[in-house]
Amino acid sequence: VTPSKEPDPAVLPAYGCQRRTPLAHHNAMLTEALETLARDAAFGGDETRSLAFTRAASALKALPWRLGSLRDLAALPGIGKHCRRVIQEVLEDGSSAEVEAVRRSEQYRTMQLFTGIFGVGTRTAASWYQEGLRTLADLRAAGPRLSRQQQAGLQYWEDLATPVTLAEAEAIRELVQAEARRILPDATVTLVGGFRRGKPTGHDVDLLLSHPEEGREQALLGPLVASLEQQGLLLYQQRQPNTFGQEPSSSSMDQFERCFAIARLALPGAGDPSARRATRVDLVVAPRSQFAFALLGWTGSRHFERELRRFAGRQRGLALSSHGLYDPQRVRTRGGTLWGGWGAPYAGTRAALAPFCC
Ligand code: TTP
Ligand code: MN
Ligand code: MN
Ligand code: MN
Repeated sequence: VTPSKEPDPAVLPAYGCQRRTPLAHHNAMLTEALETLARDAAFGGDETRSLAFTRAASALKALPWRLGSLRDLAALPGIGKHCRRVIQEVLEDGSSAEVEAVRRSEQYRTMQLFTGIFGVGTRTAASWYQEGLRTLADLRAAGPRLSRQQQAGLQYWEDLATPVTLAEAEAIRELVQAEARRILPDATVTLVGGFRRGKPTGHDVDLLLSHPEEGREQALLGPLVASLEQQGLLLYQQRQPNTFGQEPSSSSMDQFERCFAIARLALPGAGDPSARRATRVDLVVAPRSQFAFALLGWTGSRHFERELRRFAGRQRGLALSSHGLYDPQRVRTRGGTLWGGWGAPYAGTRAALAPFCC
């Protein structure tokens, strides 16, 4: 009897957060094809379609072997007709005509270029594309309409397009921690984002700042940024205050105090000590009571976080954000208002927002 290669449905549970999803997996050709379509759908503003492609790619990443035939798809959750067609094409021909056409298209290439600029989101990139802009030179010529952030993104584009290595990220973490501890001796600085997931490179360095004593963390970011700036280590910085407990914004971002910065760092191993390069750094400040949730939320990936929050809501009746895990019933009865969106918690007073459990 030939052992069946048919996967046991239990091997791949429905939610992405329930599956082991290694960085190096067995179906890269298929997931790259699907993720190209996911990006293209997002560029076109169709988040629902984009999510369908992302879900299919996520399931394939968790498959512990290389997909050999469409039959094996039976056990994978959330693979729709369109995805099946793409997968079949790649399995049979080695590539998908639809995906190749997207990769070649001027719109996709331009959107990739524009959304890769610090400070440029999908909508901005799309409107520039509609106006006929295609290159960085086109944007530079359009200078006055750019925000300060976008100007910085363009100015340092070449450096920022160069991947950050783990060694560089760790050096930045240490530098920031040393500086933070001169301000508050017990301050903690944790490397989060893709590096915490084991990625060897990233597009930026995400650092989560905190302090063992609740409330003390509030005195950290202002002096820290000022001191780094004074030392000439920052090329750009944009601080945002903590808005937790206030009306949530319409964005799905969390409400921690933060600073989006471009740091200017010595290149390790460079002979010339003045050789420095621009690196994107995100600094986020969480109070101790929310630290675990901030750590979880800022570790990513975005899809993992989305799935974790969907799982919490649908399977456990709880609301998860980077600020806490809440029982929506309890928050409601205490006068809070449930607010839609995965990233934000509830409107209401701080008192009503005590985490349900840790
Ligand atoms: P990113 O730095 O955008 O992504 P990444 O670190 O996974 O990838 P890369 O290596 O390319 O940098 O965001 C890091 C995580 O932080 C991500 O999982 C989403 C989360 N995040 C928030 O929770 N709130 C925010 O406002 C932002 C910007 C990110
Ligand atoms: Mn494996
Ligand atoms: Mn990152
Ligand atoms: Mn980041």
